[in-house]
Amino acid sequence: MKALYSLVGLLLILLVGISTTIKTEIIIDEKDSVADVMRKLGKSDDSKYPNKNVKGGVSAEAGRLLIQEGFAPKEKGGKTKKQSKHFVCTSCHNIVKEDIDLASPDPQERLIYSEEQGIPFLQGTTLYGAVNRETFYNGDYEKKYGALVEPARNDIREAIKLCAVECAQGRELDDWELESILAYLWTIDLKMGDLLLNGEEFDLVESALNTGEDQEDALAIVESKFAKGAEAHFVYPPEDRKKGYDYVGNPENGKMIYDNSCLHCHKRQRYSYFDLDNSKLSFKYLKGKANGYAPHSLYQVIRWGVPTKSGKKSYMPQYTKEKMSDQMVEDLRAYIEKRAE
Ligand code: HEC
Ligand code: HEC
Repeated sequence: MKALYSLVGLLLILLVGISTTIKTEIIIDEKDSVADVMRKLGKSDDSKYPNKNVKGGVSAEAGRLLIQEGFAPKEKGGKTKKQSKHFVCTSCHNIVKEDIDLASPDPQERLIYSEEQGIPFLQGTTLYGAVNRETFYNGDYEKKYGALVEPARNDIREAIKLCAVECAQGRELDDWELESILAYLWTIDLKMGDLLLNGEEFDLVESALNTGEDQEDALAIVESKFAKGAEAHFVYPPEDRKKGYDYVGNPENGKMIYDNSCLHCHKRQRYSYFDLDNSKLSFKYLKGKANGYAPHSLYQVIRWGVPTKSGKKSYMPQYTKEKMSDQMVEDLRAYIEKRAE
């Protein structure tokens, strides 16, 4: 019996040996990192990788905890102070894929995808694939944060630091915390399966990896499959708030927005002092405010956000055009009006 086992073992070793010598060929797997493939095709940016030598215990797990819980265990015991009293990063950002087509993200498609996946629909862009982007706080964010955006535009570390203080209204991150967040973000970088390459494109990339030929073409294909930065355009409330935007609202679509977005922060005052639920009272309150010019009309809070009040640093981020279309705002209004009846 023993002899049989060793014979089988020997055969297995032989087989594996043969197959690895035959398969020196590179085969792309759905789960392969896009950044790794791009590096093999000649493009990489080493500065984006975490510096694990920073003292304090850099780890992807500490980064995950900071992003989801707001604090992490310290190397020498105990835990860090909470990063923000008001928010965690996941109040405003998903950490999973939220767009099917990464090359041309669309808020309505994202809404449907969020509903299917059971993930929130938020003002911030998902952190999934953030390390694959090249520019941050694009477009109109400069209007909001002014010169603060400059160092963050092309530098993911500065983007994280800016968001921790300005978006999350929290304390500054220690260097090891920043590197830990970066280490975690590298665990949620884009994977080849996310790019939706067709068969021909897939073959071309694979062949470029194996032969070293047509690498530029292959790189161009890979890079054309995802946005290098999240676009951001601020849009304004309609001139006549009674009439609203010039669209007929679809309440079913509005329900998805209410459930996946508004309730994410407002249900049982999760990230806000302002409580919303599925009671008629909530809808009546929102309806009453939607039509008027009150500082907190629906259009106002969606398009301008809600600023920090004195003494309270919490605030509501606005929805850019890329996060909610005018049509979608009307859908939400239609849903609110229906539920307020
Ligand atoms: C209150 C909401 C909020 C919180 C909390 C928040 N962010 Fe943001 N963040 C935003 C918004 C809004 C933007 C604007 C750009 C975008 O995401 O499209 C942004 C931008 C970013 C960007 C640049 C994204 C890009 O592609 O332009 C990064 C990186 C980021 N945040 C990381 C973090 C991290 C890490 C935390 C936690 C420490 C955090 N954010 C907490 C709302 C928030
Ligand atoms: C990322 C979290 C977040 C999301 C998502 C969010 N809000 Fe808010 N909202 C806040 C915060 C924070 C405030 C500020 C109030 C406070 O101090 O807590 C606020 C304030 C408001 C106010 C003003 C409250 C008042 O004092 O009258 C309204 C109205 C409101 N939100 C409605 C909405 C609606 C409608 C949606 C969905 C389209 C929504 N919010 C989505 C976080 C959020």
